Amino acid sequence: MASSPQVHHDRDADCDRCDRHANLNGDSKTHLPKKPRLSFITHSEILTEFSHHDTSVARINNGSFGCCPASVLEAQRVWQLKYLAQPDNFYFNELKKGIHRSRTIIKELINAEHVDEISLVDNATTAAAIVLQQASWAFSEGKFDKGDAVVMLHYAYGAVKKSIEAYVTRSGGYVIEVPLPFPVNSNNEIITEFRKALERGKANGRRVRLAVIDHVTSMPCVVIPIKELVKICREEGVDQVFVDAAHGIGCTDVDMKAIGADFYASNLHKWFFCPPSIAFLYCRKSPKLSELHHPVVSHEYGNGLAIESAWIGTRDYSPQLVVPSVLDFINRFEGGLEGIKKRNHETVVEMGEMLTKEWRTNLGCPPDMCASMIMVGLPACLGISSEMDTLKLRTHLREKFGVEVPIYFRSPKTGEDGSTGYARISHQVYNKVDDYVKFKDAINQLVRDGFTCTLLTK
Ligand SMILES: Cc1ncc(COP(=O)(O)O)c(C=O)c1O
Repeated sequence: MASSPQVHHDRDADCDRCDRHANLNGDSKTHLPKKPRLSFITHSEILTEFSHHDTSVARINNGSFGCCPASVLEAQRVWQLKYLAQPDNFYFNELKKGIHRSRTIIKELINAEHVDEISLVDNATTAAAIVLQQASWAFSEGKFDKGDAVVMLHYAYGAVKKSIEAYVTRSGGYVIEVPLPFPVNSNNEIITEFRKALERGKANGRRVRLAVIDHVTSMPCVVIPIKELVKICREEGVDQVFVDAAHGIGCTDVDMKAIGADFYASNLHKWFFCPPSIAFLYCRKSPKLSELHHPVVSHEYGNGLAIESAWIGTRDYSPQLVVPSVLDFINRFEGGLEGIKKRNHETVVEMGEMLTKEWRTNLGCPPDMCASMIMVGLPACLGISSEMDTLKLRTHLREKFGVEVPIYFRSPKTGEDGSTGYARISHQVYNKVDDYVKFKDAINQLVRDGFTCTLLTK
């Protein structure tokens, strides 16, 4: 893995400035550098950190798979070798401590009350399964009545919708979708639809047992006003609120006390620079915590979700162990995670506005309703008229133009002639303005050539 000596030097230089290194048991109070940095990561160091990226591709899709810098990959390799060198010692003396250290860092970053509230799991999909499995047991064991409602957004992630089908519908739960407008103009539009869905949920004497709310919807992407929606759930007597924040930490503001949900899951491999795959699942401390179990049952069953999740059989736990190294990487940037998030947001909005101005189209939402990703209307003449078209166009952009960007199809309302396709662009620290210019030029060329999606066969 390519990496400059400068990167190592920077990391080591941080060590005596970071509280984490003062106490390797992980019970320090803060993981931010004690002294302000005098210099920050340079442009060329960022290039080195991401030199494993394919330079022929304008990768404006951090949202799908995230990214991991070379220094973190190196740290991961060290953990993997430690395991391979002496697995028994690693298992008995290193693994639990290391995972606890990572959970402590996450606990502080997200303002949770206690480290027991934080479990590390593989991904948001696993976290959703943990929460929904518990709901399924509540239906089958009679804690919830058959026919009680579970509310989710229409734009919930496809895999999570399937999980709701598998765990909730199958156990007798009644699923209600909140239809959301797109393009969306204000939080109020979302709040109004959410309230209406809760009313439908409570019709005929039903109870709403669980609300599954995305923090940042995947496709189309919009930041959901979760604080307001969680508050409404509390007022309306919804039993449990699960926030699916696959795009949470590093992408938008994540504060457990301010949000107030029962469960909140965020990937760490999307916007937090961890290698694949790792997510945290926050479960607010309450007697109900003991009802949550990892779906892969192993020796630690019954010892609490965090401990169960820290051993689900023999596997590679290195993504869960590199969280301290990820924080070292993040703290090389001005303003740390906050600074990265703020600059990603500002730049993605700027790039989105540059593209919509060029194509005389619109953004999918106002800038303050997006985080580090934004929906950009594509020229209507591209003739995007189905989801299949979006996939074909995406492949065409990748193969013919070296641009990687996901595309969303939106059925036009009758008599309307706006964009039927929206691109979801992301911005992460490795992106350059040229990436977005490459995308702009590719679309401009297609428009000049009279291209329409009907010309694509695959
Ligand atoms: C809102 C949402 N939920 C869940 C997921 C699933 O994440 P993972 O594939 O890492 O489990 C995604 C992935 O993009 C997502 O956007």
